[in-house]
Amino acid sequence: MALRVQSWRTLLFLGLCQVGLSGLATAADEKDPPKKIAIVGGGVGGSAAAYFLRQEFGPSVKIEVFESDTVGGRLATENVGGHDYESGGSIIHPLNLHMKHIVDRLGLSPRPEMPSKRAIFDGKELIYEESDWYIVNFIRMVWRYGLNFIRMPMWMENVLEKFMRIYQYQQFGYSFSSMEKLLHAMGGEDYIALVNRTLEETMLAEGFSQVFLNDIVMPITRFNYGQTVRLHGFVGAVAISSMDSGLWAVDGGNGKVCSGLLYHSKAELVQGRVTSISMKTRPSKPGSSANLYDVSYVSESGAAQSTYAIVIVATPLHQGLSDINFSGFSPPIPSHFPGQFHITVTTLVHGVLNVSYLGVMYKPEDFFVSDIFTTDNKASVIQSLQSIDPVQIPKGYSRPPASQKKVWKISSSVSVPQEELKKVFLSWDSVVEKRWLAYPSYTPPQRGTPPFILHNQLYYLNAIERAASSMEMSAISARNLALLAHHRWYQQTDKIDQEDLHIKLRSEL
Ligand SMILES: Cc1cc2nc3c(=O)[nH]c(=O)nc-3n(C[C@H](O)[C@H](O)[C@H](O)COP(=O)(O)OP(=O)(O)OC[C@H]3O[C@@H](n4cnc5c(N)ncnc54)[C@H](O)[C@@H]3O)c2cc1C
Ligand SMILES: *[C@@H]1O[C@H](CO)[C@@H](O)[C@H](O)[C@H]1NC(C)=O
Ligand SMILES: *[C@@H]1O[C@H](CO)[C@@H](O)[C@H](O)[C@H]1NC(C)=O
Ligand SMILES: *[C@@H]1O[C@H](CO)[C@@H](O)[C@H](O)[C@H]1NC(C)=O
Repeated sequence: MALRVQSWRTLLFLGLCQVGLSGLATAADEKDPPKKIAIVGGGVGGSAAAYFLRQEFGPSVKIEVFESDTVGGRLATENVGGHDYESGGSIIHPLNLHMKHIVDRLGLSPRPEMPSKRAIFDGKELIYEESDWYIVNFIRMVWRYGLNFIRMPMWMENVLEKFMRIYQYQQFGYSFSSMEKLLHAMGGEDYIALVNRTLEETMLAEGFSQVFLNDIVMPITRFNYGQTVRLHGFVGAVAISSMDSGLWAVDGGNGKVCSGLLYHSKAELVQGRVTSISMKTRPSKPGSSANLYDVSYVSESGAAQSTYAIVIVATPLHQGLSDINFSGFSPPIPSHFPGQFHITVTTLVHGVLNVSYLGVMYKPEDFFVSDIFTTDNKASVIQSLQSIDPVQIPKGYSRPPASQKKVWKISSSVSVPQEELKKVFLSWDSVVEKRWLAYPSYTPPQRGTPPFILHNQLYYLNAIERAASSMEMSAISARNLALLAHHRWYQQTDKIDQEDLHIKLRSEL
């Protein structure tokens, strides 16, 4: 199932020598930079926002990041048997250029790659098992699915090629005031349509077969987003891209990126929960007035309030994820936008797998499959089962076969019942369960996506999650909002919502 990654040399180059070009223009501007900027949320989105805002606004502005829980947010680890394992966001695509750039910039490194081997389980047996030989996999898939299998990488390449345009736009300092405009700039009407229709509808219209969707695509969407092929086409394509080779993670844990970004951007971390944001207009110079935002928060030392020129909300405005009151805004800003978040339960089991459960006939010491996808079957609540490695690979480590005790990660949308664990594992010595309100339920057509701009200089980073939730999407949104806030502050309207950028910038490459 490994799809080929095209080489995007030019873009990689552009991505790696990323400098905020727009920052150069500010020296000549007469308007003073903002004094203080607040960011609500210290996940990858909020911490990347701190980094890009520093890049845009320079050294004098004070950047404060509020975090009510742990820096890293949905990037988190659990300790099992003396080692840490990712329990939230875990894999990064080789063409996620912001993540790549950030990791380089922070002096972090990718975790040494472990070979992975995939299989698909239908509740009774493995209907597909990857061989060590690429050509064998290829022939098997073409034998079974014919042109579908050849068309898939072509379709993906088309989607990905348009996706990559965002890096060039941002490189040249362009920003977008809404998700529709951003998606349109990347891929025109086709991209908007992707978000508005199910992956199933889109792929059937492209000529893929229902059997291929059920056998191959469904396991992929279940694996990545715990949802069926009825999620929308854009997030579906993001899920399918995780079949590419060269996936990586950050050595020591993906969450290291967040603390690293906060440190690098010289942002001040405020350990506290933001309870409300309100607007106050106070007279500044005679005859003019400035919008400022009061941010109220509760920390260990009690309730407090601070005032900012720009505020970035970098947490989903969703029930159970944040509860912020916006007061004094007209039109009013809701605490929660409509739409559901999907529950993903991650269960880390340190134990010995029962390979018979998977219908595997050969010896467990010969079973090296690491990523088990599942079809949409009623036999089990398990959506995927993965043999995972510690965030820091110990010296001399190699991934053990199924006959040995090791760490398996189960994803499901409800807790795995004890009876089921007993079937799947012969024995175990620990089970750690983590329940996430993980990412949106992607049910198209979308009725109105939340705005990036909540108010003049009050922005909503996680609106982007309606297109797709991933570390890279958060970083793209962070960069977009840093640029947008900058251009709106200095009234550089020519850098906002430009049409046909990919044509205008073609000559620049
Ligand atoms: C199980 C799982 C698997 C995933 N797998 C992948 C993957 O393989 N690859 C990938 O790229 N992505 C993956 N994702 C998605 C990815 O983890 C998220 O898209 C990304 O981490 C979101 O980052 P964020 O900063 O936007 O939000 P968050 O990480 O949610 O950060 C928001 C932060 O805001 C804080 N906060 C909330 N309210 C307040 C308040 N009122 N005051 C102060 N602080 C507040 C929260 O404590 C939190 O730390 C996965 C997610 C989950 C849950
Ligand atoms: C999305 O679909 C809805 C309902 O089918 C339609 O009304 C709307 O115009 C579509 N939006 C876009 C941007 O295509
Ligand atoms: C938000 O405002 C409402 C009404 O003023 C109040 O009842 C509620 O407690 C507030 N919530 C928070 C988290 O401050
Ligand atoms: C292993 O799985 C098989 C097939 O589901 C089952 O019959 C058997 O009882 C399981 N073994 C144990 C020890 O649970």
